[in-house]
Formats: sequence, structure tokens, C-alpha cells
Amino acid sequence: MTALTQLSQAIHDAPRWHQEDQFQNPQEIKIVPLAGEALGAAVFGLDAKKAQSGETILRLKQALAEHLILIFKQQSIDDFQYLAFASYFGSIFRPSSDTPVLATQSDTGTPPDVVPVSNAVGQGDYTGYGELAPHADHQWTPLPSFGSLLYAIELPKDGGQTSWYNTIKAYDALDDETKQHLDTLQLITYNPFVRFQSNKGAPKDGGYGTFPKYRFKDQPVIGHAYPHPLVRTHPESGRKALWLNTHNEVELVNYDDQAGSELIAKLRDHILKPEFHYEHHWEQGDIVFWDNQATLHSRRPFPADQRRLLKRISLAGGRPY
Ligand code: OGA
Ligand code: MN
Repeated sequence: MTALTQLSQAIHDAPRWHQEDQFQNPQEIKIVPLAGEALGAAVFGLDAKKAQSGETILRLKQALAEHLILIFKQQSIDDFQYLAFASYFGSIFRPSSDTPVLATQSDTGTPPDVVPVSNAVGQGDYTGYGELAPHADHQWTPLPSFGSLLYAIELPKDGGQTSWYNTIKAYDALDDETKQHLDTLQLITYNPFVRFQSNKGAPKDGGYGTFPKYRFKDQPVIGHAYPHPLVRTHPESGRKALWLNTHNEVELVNYDDQAGSELIAKLRDHILKPEFHYEHHWEQGDIVFWDNQATLHSRRPFPADQRRLLKRISLAGGRPY
């Protein structure tokens, strides 16, 4: 028989419902919304190594659609167990080789299914130690990821907190006239990894802000453009979310340059208001699972000489509408 891929092996080896000692009792699981925060719920009593019931997965999917991020505490899993757990919620995000993304490998043209996000040189230092500006993972691709998970393995003493922004609340807070106008617009988000490719990798100290934040029509187009709605409808809840990151190069389709860049700048300031924001202070063993369709996330910088290792899995999504 041929050797299995990591993902097939993970599903092959995963515990099943009939193995009593490896089956998660749904009654042990508590989902607790974060008090006073703009989004998020903590999940207690769930061991991601175990086989999960249909009831549990449905509860988690509903909680994710409602709270937009789920924080699983005190996990201890390997990459296979991590893949098996994440796969309950959908297919692994695998962009085609015409679309570079974080951790795209030069030999395969695609990223690994489990991406190390670290600052250890040569061991997954794709994002270095700098600040990461608010973004939704893979927004610039033809079929963006619906959600991602990060699992904290090694943490720095200082900094490195990750924040999430509730872009459903940001949309809801706009006045009706603005909402009606935004509902008609399409937005292109240009792929920063096309630029990074020609610059030989992303800057390790952040520096994402050095690229233009809005493309004027006299400026070159870098890479392929995939217009998506500026306001997207959440596939499960039907709620509308502003679908705009704060620092990458974007362009409103068929829109005046000056008016477009001013509108986008105003919306970006709006999204960053504290009432839409939650900052996560990581503990080793946390897995955070978030919805890329209705949130942005960012990271504070941390000292280059303190190790930080998280592992990310992104899940495939449908075409935004
Ligand atoms: C990511 C990401 C944030 C962090 O891996 O997609 O944005 O805190 N990471 O490292
Ligand atoms: Mn990210």
C-alpha cells in the first residue's frame, strides 16, 4: 500500500465513537461567553484528542457562528490529532499553486496543512516577531478560508497577544444610509504574498504598513484580483459583516479613487473602535478557533529573542456573498 498523507493518516488513526475511553462525554463540555467582551466564548472540559459526538460538533458550530471565536483551554495534542479535530468543521484550506499565501512552499507551491507560526529562524518564521495588522486569513484568494485555528505551544514572556475584531458589530453600528450604500459595493483585496514573493519573503519585523493601503487607478496591479462583496452575509447566521482588513491594499470596484480611499479609511477607523475588539492573552495549551468571515485579527509584537510557537490550521470556505 502507498504511504498515507499526513491528513489521511490523521483521520485513519483518529479515535472513534466506539472506543469508550477516547470518546468525549458531551455533558462535560461547557461553553461560556466571554463576559463583557465584543466576541468570543471559552470552551471548558473538551479534550481535542478524543472522538466527539454529533451533538458536540453542532453545539460548537452554533457557538462559533454566534460568538465568532472559540477558546479551547488546556489542550495537549500532536499535529495528527490537531488535524483530526479541525477536520470535524470542514476541509483543510488548500489554495491552488497560482495563489501564494502564508507558508507557501517553493517546491509544492502550496502551504502545509499545519503551518508553524513561530519566530525560530528556518522553523516556520513566516510572520517573524513583528506586529501583524488586523486581517482575515486568505481574504485575497478566490475562495477565502472560512475559519482558522491557532494552537499555542511556546509563548514569549512579553507581548505576542492576539486580538480579534467583531465586524458584524462594526457593520450593525453604521447608520442605515451608509449600510445601504455599502451593501452595493465590491472590494478587491490584493494579495500581499505576491509582493512578498518578489521581495523574497515577508519582513520579519512586521513592516506590512509599507505597502499602499488603497490602489489608485494610475498605480500598477500586483497579482490577480478577485472582487468580493464589501459586506458579506454570514452563511450560518445570515448576519452581515464588514469584510475589510485595515492595512492591506484594497480597491473598490468602479469607484472614484479619492472618494473610495476616503470611505475605506473611515471604515477602517470605525472597525478599530474598542467596542468591537477583544485581546487574547495566550496560555500554553490554548486553541483559538475563529471565523474569518466576520472577524479580523491582529498580533502585538514581541521580543525577537523570546521564542513563540503556535500552529495554525485554516479551513476552506465558499465564495463570499
Ligand atoms: C496567523 C496569524 C497571529 C499570531 O497565523 O494567521 O495571524 O498571533 N497569527 O501569531
Ligand atoms: Mn492571520
